[in-house]
Amino acid sequence: MPLPADYRIVPVPESRLRDVLTLDTWAFPSEHPTETFLELPSSLPWDRSYGVEHAGSTGLTAFHAAYPLRAYPVPGAEVSCGWLTWVGVHPAHRRRGILRAMIEHHFADCLAAGEAISALTASEPSIYGRFGYGLAANVLSLTIPRGAALREVPGADNLDVTLEEWDAAAHGDLAAGIHRRFGQLPDGLGRPGWATRETPALRTSHDSDPQRLRGPKESRRIAIVRDASGRPTAYATFRRTLTWGGPGPDGTVDVREAVALDAASARRLWSVLLDLDLMSRVTIANIPADDPITRLLVDPRAARPAVSDHTWVRILDLPRALSERRYAADVDVVLEVTDAMVPANAGRWRVQASAFGHAEVTRTDGDPDLVLDVRELGAVHLGSIPLTAIAQAGQLELRTPAALGPAAVAWSWPVAAGANWIF
Ligand SMILES: CC(C)(COP(=O)(O)OP(=O)(O)OC[C@H]1O[C@@H](n2cnc3c(N)ncnc32)[C@H](O)[C@@H]1OP(=O)(O)O)[C@@H](O)C(=O)NCCC(=O)NCCS
Repeated sequence: MPLPADYRIVPVPESRLRDVLTLDTWAFPSEHPTETFLELPSSLPWDRSYGVEHAGSTGLTAFHAAYPLRAYPVPGAEVSCGWLTWVGVHPAHRRRGILRAMIEHHFADCLAAGEAISALTASEPSIYGRFGYGLAANVLSLTIPRGAALREVPGADNLDVTLEEWDAAAHGDLAAGIHRRFGQLPDGLGRPGWATRETPALRTSHDSDPQRLRGPKESRRIAIVRDASGRPTAYATFRRTLTWGGPGPDGTVDVREAVALDAASARRLWSVLLDLDLMSRVTIANIPADDPITRLLVDPRAARPAVSDHTWVRILDLPRALSERRYAADVDVVLEVTDAMVPANAGRWRVQASAFGHAEVTRTDGDPDLVLDVRELGAVHLGSIPLTAIAQAGQLELRTPAALGPAAVAWSWPVAAGANWIF
């Protein structure tokens, strides 16, 4: 769908940051003025930033950008992904098709950049399904009582932990290295969806700790676990807020990230986070459903786990996207796919793959085993939403009932998908 008359999409250079931030604070209301955001490092990818201008208005009426991820983990591989971000339409111009036109532009932009998939986190989950994005990864948030018991892990108590005030220059590389490595574990499998701070601007923005945006919380802190040789094996970044309730101190530790490369380090890290003086609870959001803390807690129910949607995936170049990933079992299946926005994806495709090996995706005239929309194919792409769940919710047509089980196993992955940050 083209933009309504009097609107046009334009590339946005860095010199228009003020326009972007002005629009952004219309789309996402903030207690802070634009001036405050102008002083912060921007994560925006300027060669992939686009605005919408209106003939009768100054500034921007809408904006979106794409982070060009080049090592985005999908099952068994790292691929190119156009991560859609900073989507906003000025409230005076909403519901007249501007988002839809920006999405069409984004799809063409990703395909031109060689990205077979796009992904995003959504401000409101009901927005993006209509454009063929499927919910591919849910994450957990926890509120863990102070002192919660943890199961023992041999060797954990011997590991050294330091607590320091966050310093991007001193800690940035250490955290980025552990974060990236975690996404590759277990070796040979890796964690689908574990996006890293790939571009320098994303890294700088993520590593900054602007005092003005902290509210009542302290500056960012880091806990670092080291093994006997002094090698860092885990870190957590966190902030404490000290409040006083009726009976006394009632503080909260907000953990931004807790990432460990082995079980003993995870146990040691959490034993420190869960025993900070004057604190009553520890919160953490955006953890994958199988994060080690979910197994370490003796009483996981007391951590009040809450599930929320995280990563939405859109298949843009079907044969490439489906052959770039790996499958957890041998499979030979014919899909019939509908795609209202990218017609090249529609039709019948034969997917042949060997377990954890090569995959081939070819056009076919053969009878389809499964009939589904590209949205559902996006939902199963990271291996965490089972094809059986799609079928049981009536979101695929089963022409060959016996094909469902083998296909569901093939599309699954042994490690839960998810990223531990929103960007
Ligand atoms: C969400 C937002 C981008 C939508 O922009 P818009 O230009 O009004 O959207 P469009 O007119 O192109 O609408 C396209 C479709 O999405 C639907 N839609 C738009 N916003 C929606 C929302 N918040 N929830 C559910 N559906 C929504 C429209 O009803 C329309 O549906 P249709 O295709 O069935 O007709 C805009 O309202 C906005 O900036 N909101 C605040 C910031 C935000 O949430 N940004 C998204 C960040 S992930």
